[in-house]
Amino acid sequence: MVLGRITDTVDTLLDRTIVPGYSRIGFAVRRTWWAADLLPGALDGRTVAITGANSGLGKATALSAAGLGAAVRMLCRDTERSSSARDEILRAVPGAHIVVDECDLSDQKSVRACAAALRDELPGLHALVHNAGAMPPTRTETEDGHELTVATHVLGPHLLTGQLRSLLAADVDSRVVFVSSGGMYAQRLRIDDPEFHEGDYDATAAYARTKRMQVVLAQLWAVQLAEQHVAVHAMHPGWADTPGVTDSLPRFARLTGPILRTAAQGADTAVWLLAADAAARTTGLFWHDRRPRPTDYLPFTRHDADAAARLWDYCEVATR
Ligand SMILES: NC(=O)c1ccc[n+]([C@@H]2O[C@H](COP(=O)([O-])OP(=O)(O)OC[C@H]3O[C@@H](n4cnc5c(N)ncnc54)[C@H](OP(=O)(O)O)[C@@H]3O)[C@@H](O)[C@H]2O)c1
Repeated sequence: MVLGRITDTVDTLLDRTIVPGYSRIGFAVRRTWWAADLLPGALDGRTVAITGANSGLGKATALSAAGLGAAVRMLCRDTERSSSARDEILRAVPGAHIVVDECDLSDQKSVRACAAALRDELPGLHALVHNAGAMPPTRTETEDGHELTVATHVLGPHLLTGQLRSLLAADVDSRVVFVSSGGMYAQRLRIDDPEFHEGDYDATAAYARTKRMQVVLAQLWAVQLAEQHVAVHAMHPGWADTPGVTDSLPRFARLTGPILRTAAQGADTAVWLLAADAAARTTGLFWHDRRPRPTDYLPFTRHDADAAARLWDYCEVATR
């Protein structure tokens, strides 16, 4: 009891002070009081689809899921690069069932084609991890005419979730996980300008705004899929050493280098959400290091139900 109160206090302190909590320090401290690791075989017989699984956190998630016994579908836009990631995972988990599926999240035709192929082939899907992410330096539009970060982080995942809904519903205890970012805490839901037409384009702000949208979208999908017993969660990985961080944020990566988490540590909560009972008993939560976290610390980031409903409508119209 007393020990529980102490760990709660330390955990909250780590969360609020950001640098220790988001870095490998937070992971190492919290790791000491977590229950035993997920056991090998925890995902035996389950199929898990992970977007952007050829690099960084996605690859680490795929590796861990395969290690827990899951059949893994790597949903990636570059099948050649992804095949070498697949081979790497197979060397670490010999005999794992891993398939690369072509899927560019920013291209709705590609998302629909990938989902149709999965529906043709699979009887059910245990989990879908929306991990693919990018931070283009300038405002870019996709062939579908949408701003690239919104297309990749919000519209692609929205479309894919809808397209795979029947497969998720066919499995028991299935889950959807959005890999968001702690950066979203600094941004509010801007449904008045979802594609950054107003003002100068700020890459980190645009990235963080779409990560905020992901958290709200996860809550909306949680309601949509509740009847089908599909749990939907968002999480943030803290700060992990991945190509995404070193390429898009080189200065940040240099400054934080020694304390960045490994990709496996960053992916830990996403993997845990795939297998833990706690993730199936709840839905619509925002997690970090295996605990639900508040979605707002700053009063100006709070949104009302009307703004959330408008986000849903925007996603529906933009993916029609
Ligand atoms: N690392 C961190 O500290 C951190 C912190 C907060 C949040 N995150 C989130 O974690 C997720 C993974 O990031 P990461 O750090 O592992 O970066 P990463 O190594 O750059 O991986 C990003 C992955 O997303 C894929 N991707 C990007 N655009 C795509 C598209 N249109 N269609 C399909 N796949 C696409 C990339 O594929 P290609 O190889 O083909 O480019 C790559 O596999 C992202 O959502 C990111 O926002 C990471």
